[in-house]
Amino acid sequence: MLSQILLSSLLLLAPTLSSAQDVATSTSGPSQCVIFDASWNLLAFNFDGKDYNVGAQLDSSTPAQDITTDNRPPFDVTSSPPLCFLSKFANAIYVLNSDANDRASVYIYDATAKSWSKQQTSNPPSTYDPSTFGAILDHDTNVFYVLNDGEMSSLNMDALKAASGESIPWNTVQRLQLSPEGVQGTYEPVLALAHNHIHFLGVPGIDAGNTKIFVIHFSHLQPEPQYYGEPQFPNSHGKTTSFFRDIGVQTQYAYIPDDGSNTYVVDVTTNSTRIIPGPARRDPYATYAASPNALVQLASTAGAISWIGYNQETGQGTSWQTLPSFPVSENTPSTGNGSGNSSSGAGSGSNSSNSGARTPANTTSTNSSSPNTSNQNAGAAGLGYSKQLLIASTMLVGFVLSVAGVVL
Ligand SMILES: *[C@@H]1O[C@H](CO)[C@@H](O)[C@H](O)[C@H]1NC(C)=O
Ligand SMILES: *[C@@H]1O[C@H](CO)[C@@H](O)[C@H](O)[C@H]1NC(C)=O
Ligand SMILES: *[C@@H]1O[C@H](CO)[C@@H](O)[C@H](O)[C@H]1NC(C)=O
Ligand SMILES: *[C@@H]1O[C@H](CO)[C@@H](O)[C@H](O)[C@H]1NC(C)=O
Ligand SMILES: *[C@@H]1O[C@H](CO)[C@@H](O)[C@H](O)[C@H]1NC(C)=O
Ligand SMILES: *[C@@H]1O[C@H](CO)[C@@H](O)[C@H](O)[C@H]1NC(C)=O
Ligand SMILES: *[C@@H]1O[C@H](CO)[C@@H](O)[C@H](O)[C@H]1NC(C)=O
Repeated sequence: MLSQILLSSLLLLAPTLSSAQDVATSTSGPSQCVIFDASWNLLAFNFDGKDYNVGAQLDSSTPAQDITTDNRPPFDVTSSPPLCFLSKFANAIYVLNSDANDRASVYIYDATAKSWSKQQTSNPPSTYDPSTFGAILDHDTNVFYVLNDGEMSSLNMDALKAASGESIPWNTVQRLQLSPEGVQGTYEPVLALAHNHIHFLGVPGIDAGNTKIFVIHFSHLQPEPQYYGEPQFPNSHGKTTSFFRDIGVQTQYAYIPDDGSNTYVVDVTTNSTRIIPGPARRDPYATYAASPNALVQLASTAGAISWIGYNQETGQGTSWQTLPSFPVSENTPSTGNGSGNSSSGAGSGSNSSNSGARTPANTTSTNSSSPNTSNQNAGAAGLGYSKQLLIASTMLVGFVLSVAGVVL
């Protein structure tokens, strides 16, 4: 009892974000990404056109190291965030959706050699769309699995640390019937990886606290949902990221519903769920990364990074803190070689002296990718938002812009 009181008073003194804030968000998500390398250094890509190694001690005041180098991705997709994945055995970061002119390519950052290369792919599925798909990189096989429009496809990255001379083909795996028979509703993919199984959250027609499971090694969709006990996580759209382990596959993943109310940690070895605090910034368009003992949030605007410690053995979380050592950054897409091809229009990232929230991609006229907006799960799949949130964030951004004197 006393120790609990002591702990909570100590926590009050800690430099934490004390209460959850609803902040200006961007429906197109961040134009940066954060990810851990295999030594659990936090890497942060595309902050004002630069890349950083923050190091493994997130609470250290050591400045981040600039690791910007040649052949990095242009990071010029303005409609949805770049997607970063750690290939643990290769100690390489694979970046999807970072080249507007070649969206199905995979940029590879070799975290050991500190160099970039671009892997070409071929035969992307006709449904290929990184702004709406859900994707995981399997720990053991180093194969990407992507769910788009109900269709699963895969891309075998072998053990690549750098691009091979040959293009890698996308393969069709199978069409997945995730919802129970007769249930209507479009599924916005929310995929999580644990134990070489793909977990699907927020599937229409599935009860709270349950996921559907695809067993990668047998290409098998388990017919019955798996239940993870109390507290039950909601059956809604959200974001996920798996906690790595020093040795072996991931067995726990964080699930942050779009409302940001809690962080649920699902443990697939015990079929159980724990709750740790929801992020201080409630941002349904934020992205997440995890090491064995930390969960990191990259906000959809202003490059704001925060993190929470988590102990996989005890199930205890700390509290959210902002990253102290990281340079202030603007949320500006890089234009590659500086000639500023801004023909993509949306995102208006071209004026980098214009600080503050990035103009979201034409939100006032957004045609949601699924026409049925009465469905809770409809909306821009993968980025996911309820219509109310969309309106709220549009209003917020409008407010920020009008305060800044920007004429829309
Ligand atoms: C939209 O989804 C709701 C709930 O899933 C369903 O009842 C309704 O019939 C759908 N409408 C259309 C036009 O698909
Ligand atoms: C988890 O649930 C699955 C199937 O429902 C079961 O086979 C497995 O034994 C359970 N694991 C534990 C640790 O209870
Ligand atoms: C970038 O540079 C390359 C070669 O230097 C050039 O061919 C290409 O047109 C440039 N792209 C843009 C967007 O300016
Ligand atoms: C700019 O990008 C657009 C669309 O990606 C492309 O069609 C156009 O050729 C590019 N222009 C230059 C100068 O690179
Ligand atoms: C960029 O923003 C600055 C400061 O708001 C402004 O002075 C400048 O005219 C803008 N440039 C363009 C091209 O919009
Ligand atoms: C937004 O989208 C609408 C409808 O497609 C279009 O008419 C309008 O020009 C767009 N606005 C901008 C700023 O791109
Ligand atoms: C929205 O979708 C409808 C039907 O798919 C289409 O006719 C319309 O042109 C779209 N509007 C925009 C702005 O893309």
